[in-house]
Amino acid sequence: MERKKRIGILTGGGDCPGLNAAIRAAAKAAFKMDYEVIGLRDGWEGLIFNKIEVLDGAKTSGIIDRGGTILGASRTSPFRIENGPQRVLDTFKELGLQALIVLGGEGTLSVTSRLFKMGLPVVGIPKTIDNDVKETDYTIGFQTAVQIATDALDRLRSTGASHHRVMILEVMGHRTGWIATYAGMANGADAILIPEIPMNEKNMEELCQMLTARNKRGINFSIVVVSEGIELEGKVISKPHFPTDKAEDPDRLGGIGQVLGELIERKTGLHTRVSSLDYIQRGGTPVAYDRSLATAFGVKAVELIRDRKYGEMTALKGNRITSVPLDKVADGIKTVNLNAYRMAKIFFG
Ligand code: F6P
Repeated sequence: MERKKRIGILTGGGDCPGLNAAIRAAAKAAFKMDYEVIGLRDGWEGLIFNKIEVLDGAKTSGIIDRGGTILGASRTSPFRIENGPQRVLDTFKELGLQALIVLGGEGTLSVTSRLFKMGLPVVGIPKTIDNDVKETDYTIGFQTAVQIATDALDRLRSTGASHHRVMILEVMGHRTGWIATYAGMANGADAILIPEIPMNEKNMEELCQMLTARNKRGINFSIVVVSEGIELEGKVISKPHFPTDKAEDPDRLGGIGQVLGELIERKTGLHTRVSSLDYIQRGGTPVAYDRSLATAFGVKAVELIRDRKYGEMTALKGNRITSVPLDKVADGIKTVNLNAYRMAKIFFG
């Protein structure tokens, strides 16, 4: 009996809320087009080491609201493993797949673009809480991280007001400040510090003057949100790698909040406290927006495969779901639109 057409799907890089909503949508759309769906476990490792899981209706139902990814994720890159790319292509063939859907951030999608050029029939779906993938307005996971950070800032506002303190929240975003900009705007933060505008002596002085002026006006607390990847005097603050970290793991950014808090307290004499969201902003159930975006991207990816439009990535442009060539997305990140930042800046101080 002739084997059914088969699609593979994998989730690479850091996880984020909304991945399961995309897996569910892609699988259900594929089932309706009479495809079988093969899950590849733990990102590219699924194809390098043949770690697979056949997905069916039962496994892809009731997961739209579940955080993380039922397939597991990893940052393993085939290009850092001996014969990795060839093993990907060989396993793809052995599994009898027609095409592959890859959910990934900038790093995973760059690998995907290289494998496409080596002959892998693949489509990409942009996901990351950082929202730093080019050619799409938003990535899956971003709006949930913004909501988590906004809720945290709202909570810091009440305790900061009670104790007359400067409350600093450090958020993720890797080398961009999208989460800080959107959450800071939504909270009405008094200062938003992002990697796109490095901290130097001058703007550090301006920040301290603004905080002091607020205090002198009798507003005895302030909210400051800072992105983990911001440079301070030309240096990014990072934590030492753990022994189990691999070369492809991103720098372990983090710690700028504490450094900033100490500086502010020393320069202004204002009581300051620091919190960091770390992985909390990457976990848990996706907000409705991310569920809908993930669903639309999942369906679009299967339609691209149906139409044999490989080498594309699903994208959001305005309110349109479209697709763009993967090679326009690979290598390079989308930094914060400074018009949005300037809008948030109106309310600083
Ligand atoms: O890319 C998503 C992200 O959460 C970044 O914001 C953060 O810097 C990085 O992943 C952390 O990587 P890991 O999960 O490997 O520690």
